[in-house]
Amino acid sequence: MSLNIGSIEEQKQVNDLDFPLVILPPNDQVASEKLAFDDWITAHNAELHERLIRHGAILFRGFPVSSADAFEAFLDQTDYQNMPYVGGAAPRTQVTKSRIVTANESPATEKIPFHHEMAQTPHPPGYIFFYCDIAPASGGATSILHSAEICQRFFEISPEFAQQVEQQGVRYIRFMPAVTDTASAIGRSWKETFHVTTREECEAKLKEHGMSWEWLDDDLLRTESQTLAAIRFDEETQQKTFFNSILAVYTGWDDARNVANKAVVLNNGEVMDADVMAKTVEAMDELCVNFQWHEGDVLFLNNHTVLHAREPFTGDRRILASIAFK
Ligand code: FE2
Repeated sequence: MSLNIGSIEEQKQVNDLDFPLVILPPNDQVASEKLAFDDWITAHNAELHERLIRHGAILFRGFPVSSADAFEAFLDQTDYQNMPYVGGAAPRTQVTKSRIVTANESPATEKIPFHHEMAQTPHPPGYIFFYCDIAPASGGATSILHSAEICQRFFEISPEFAQQVEQQGVRYIRFMPAVTDTASAIGRSWKETFHVTTREECEAKLKEHGMSWEWLDDDLLRTESQTLAAIRFDEETQQKTFFNSILAVYTGWDDARNVANKAVVLNNGEVMDADVMAKTVEAMDELCVNFQWHEGDVLFLNNHTVLHAREPFTGDRRILASIAFK
């Protein structure tokens, strides 16, 4: 069976492939009837998955997905296994019983920098799925960036520094409050971050995540990740990727408790090269697709090969998210 491929203005080509790939309903029935849609997903599961790996991003537009529950039902119809949101930095709210949460609820005026979901943890999700419940009045694009493309550029900007990052790997240092601070994009409390209520439970989770820690005044927690690879080779697609949270942390982990340019270090403890960071941020903005949401849109991303970010916006905006195991 063949797919009904569409296009959007923002789209580009990466590796000579549409990025994102746009998929439209094949007929009116699939566009409007849940049962027909379910059957269509089941019949195309393998093909959609293969496309997701190859393109890195798929936008589904015009399908009968008009609520959080319908989004969840869509995902349940695929083979992707739900992964609970443990260890992420962003404030978010559980929306459905099992797999849907709100996307990062940080203030509308803030840009959320490019990142692979939970790249700062030892076991990041294989996939991230988004659904547009309410499209913003202006701005609020979800920007997507192919990791192989930015990786190549990173090595062009400074081969020496890029090699250091590749050879050494990086560590992330974060201060977490005891109570979630919604004024900060990284304000999630340690209790919510790790789904715990006591220090003892928290420490057990930190051990599980391979992190070291220190308790400070006011129940403030300082965590340091183990050294994580920052440049990875994606076996599945045979490309080198910029798989890390360096820029997200370097430009975004700034609040009442955290100092961004000290929050990510090389394995030897050195901070990032400021000039390379600035040029890489510029390159990211140049190479990305700023994808504008329509209500009912569903976006699938291969989290191993694609980074995402959020533009500032005005008005209401409600994007829901879900992650799945590789
Ligand atoms: Fe994210």
